[in-house]
Amino acid sequence: MKRRDFLGVAALGATAGLVLGAQARAADSNNAAPIATPLPTAQPYKAPGTVRELPAATMVDLEREAAQALAPGAFAFIARGAEKEWTLRENLRAFDDYTLKPRYLAGQKAPDLSATLLGHKLSMPVITTPMGAHGLAHASAEAGTARGTHMAGTLMTVSTAANTRIEDIAAASPGPKWFQIYLLENDQAGSKKLLQRAKAAGYSAIVFTIDAFAPGASDAVERLGFTFPPNLPLVNSGTSTFKRSLSWDDVAFIKDSVDLPLILKGFITPDLVERALQYNVAGLQVSNHGGRQLDGVPAAISALPGIVTAAQGKVPIIMDSGIRRGSDVLKALALGASAVALGRPVLYGLALGGDQGVASVYGRLKRELARAMSIAGVPSLKDISGDLLKPAA
Ligand code: FNR
Repeated sequence: MKRRDFLGVAALGATAGLVLGAQARAADSNNAAPIATPLPTAQPYKAPGTVRELPAATMVDLEREAAQALAPGAFAFIARGAEKEWTLRENLRAFDDYTLKPRYLAGQKAPDLSATLLGHKLSMPVITTPMGAHGLAHASAEAGTARGTHMAGTLMTVSTAANTRIEDIAAASPGPKWFQIYLLENDQAGSKKLLQRAKAAGYSAIVFTIDAFAPGASDAVERLGFTFPPNLPLVNSGTSTFKRSLSWDDVAFIKDSVDLPLILKGFITPDLVERALQYNVAGLQVSNHGGRQLDGVPAAISALPGIVTAAQGKVPIIMDSGIRRGSDVLKALALGASAVALGRPVLYGLALGGDQGVASVYGRLKRELARAMSIAGVPSLKDISGDLLKPAA
């Protein structure tokens, strides 16, 4: 069995272990001496470096193009999901459970997509979700994503598992940023230092991910023997083994460690909402980690209505996992989300065109949302409500 680290990537050296294991088995069965095949030396990982605007490709096209542009292991790490990938597929399919009920002949106007989220004015109600290791997608890594997200007029959440120092990401663009924390194992002082560094660097909120306390698991990543490239270290944490046993004490610890609004990410059932509100959280992020953690949990869009009801309008609800179209955003907002967060399409944009590629992805999604809103007869975000939707028959 390969040892896996927190990110669900086969630990360094695991490929070598596999090769040696195979040789040992062959030796056993043939009753012959093992063959001394030299092991391949690890090449430094080289991500694409092209910077360009992307043609008006849909997010589905981008996934196909990114599969060509990236090494198979890196692409699998980004694209694939846990176990049977039911949740991964369901994240996309479940939008079809709702049909739209347009308001025709209502004197449609050009829609205003501008949004406000925890005090930040955004060009649209779509932000960049936290993702680790942008260096796998592009040479500019998180700096490219930060610039592209800012070019699009929206907000980036930076992961603890970034390949770039959080101070350097902050310096790369003046756009608003939040910091997503994975607590360090057995190192409260180190975790606290990381949270305070984020505040000092200008991050305006902390996002605590509650659904990733065990390693992720993608069969494809395992099959490809993908190892995390040594030339792409997790420079902020120095480790990819994070705290696995999480509890409400950790929520209190984060609140005590840094004076910033706290968003809890990974809500997929309503039962924790009441307790979260008692901790004075500033927001909740409905998410199943893009189908990368517990296969079998519902699609984020299916879970959203219950969580919105439980939160009683007390805090903004952000939803991620499966957003690929403007109409997806419209449906999530109609079900009560204040904003949605975008994951893999941002990394595909980054892989194919650096910061300009990220901006192109947002440009496409914004045009789709504007089009959907204007046809549906919704002039602004405040006009989006539940009566725009009907359950599909
Ligand atoms: C993630 N996600 C994630 N979430 C988080 O809180 N911290 C992290 O470091 C990461 N890392 C990460 C890496 C990669 C490559 C992906 C694709 C995702 C989960 C992410 O925030 C989000 O929940 C999903 O990506 C949303 O789903 P879509 O938009 O990718 O379908």
